[in-house]
Amino acid sequence: MLEDQNLEQTAEMDADQTNDPSPMRKVKLTVKVSEILNEAEGIHSFELVDPSGNDLPPFTAGAHVEVRLGEGMIRSYSLCSDPADRSRYQIAVLKEENGRGGSKAMHDDVKAGDVLTISAPINHFPLAGREARAHLLLAGGIGVTPMLAMIAELEAKGARWTMHYLTRNEERTAFRDRLAPYVATGKVHIHHDGGDPSRGPGLQALLSDFEVGTHLYYCGPTGFMSACVESVGAWPPHAVHREYFSAPAGLHSDEANSPFEIKIKSTGKTIPVPADRSIVDVLRSEGCDVETDCNEGYCGTCITRYLSGEPEHRDTVLSEKERKSYVMVCCGRAKGGVLELDL
Ligand code: FES
Repeated sequence: MLEDQNLEQTAEMDADQTNDPSPMRKVKLTVKVSEILNEAEGIHSFELVDPSGNDLPPFTAGAHVEVRLGEGMIRSYSLCSDPADRSRYQIAVLKEENGRGGSKAMHDDVKAGDVLTISAPINHFPLAGREARAHLLLAGGIGVTPMLAMIAELEAKGARWTMHYLTRNEERTAFRDRLAPYVATGKVHIHHDGGDPSRGPGLQALLSDFEVGTHLYYCGPTGFMSACVESVGAWPPHAVHREYFSAPAGLHSDEANSPFEIKIKSTGKTIPVPADRSIVDVLRSEGCDVETDCNEGYCGTCITRYLSGEPEHRDTVLSEKERKSYVMVCCGRAKGGVLELDL
């Protein structure tokens, strides 16, 4: 059964409010898997609906939900359905044989008719606002999922957009039918790169010029993300938006840790965080339950509001604005002193 009170509260929210990440994570929804489709080799999509047939809470393009799987596993998946359609959410999952187990559980254990607990939609990858005159979307493999919701939202607004979609080969290209009308009109370009982004459309050439007013969005596997990072030098940071599915290579490798302290607001207790432990470790030893997924700063599950102190951010999720209020406690630290957490 749905947690009705939470759902009603969420459903009444304006869609823009779903961009405030912390409160949305606390809202738990129960959804039914109404359909599972094979979208490409190794990729299944899952349609999620309210078991009572009610509308689901609103979301904006680029949002994801956290899905609770067995044994405390939580995994984040981008919503790829049309944000204007409140009757369903759709997510798509690439099965990774050597992953951390979440995608295997989704493929092997979840069946149509099952009931899942998910978070309300959370958005760390929203489209730019009215200041954007055009949108350039770059998708690598399963990174196409948030782009599908973006396309629906951009089309509804009548915005100018183009997408380049890099996949290994035709068999690994998900959502071909859905994208076919946009391929026909030249808005979507599909490239098969055999898994090597350097054999794709030439990201350097594609991103060599920045046109004022254009915003860039990219999402995909590690190699694709690295190739994009190396190619966006001409673009101003405010016009570049990205979402990682895994930690970028070398993200934390050359950062030395220093000790600091955290203060827990609810108890007033101040606790040392030694150089060799994370904030999450220390919180858990104090009996404070903080949910995590990736433990590497890219999924957003452990987001925590802080009230004072100066965090040292080490994630790839938070925007500059969000960093003024939140810290990812799986990897974030403090620049010395005391970091007071709203826990
Ligand atoms: S657990 Fe993924 S960002 Fe902290």
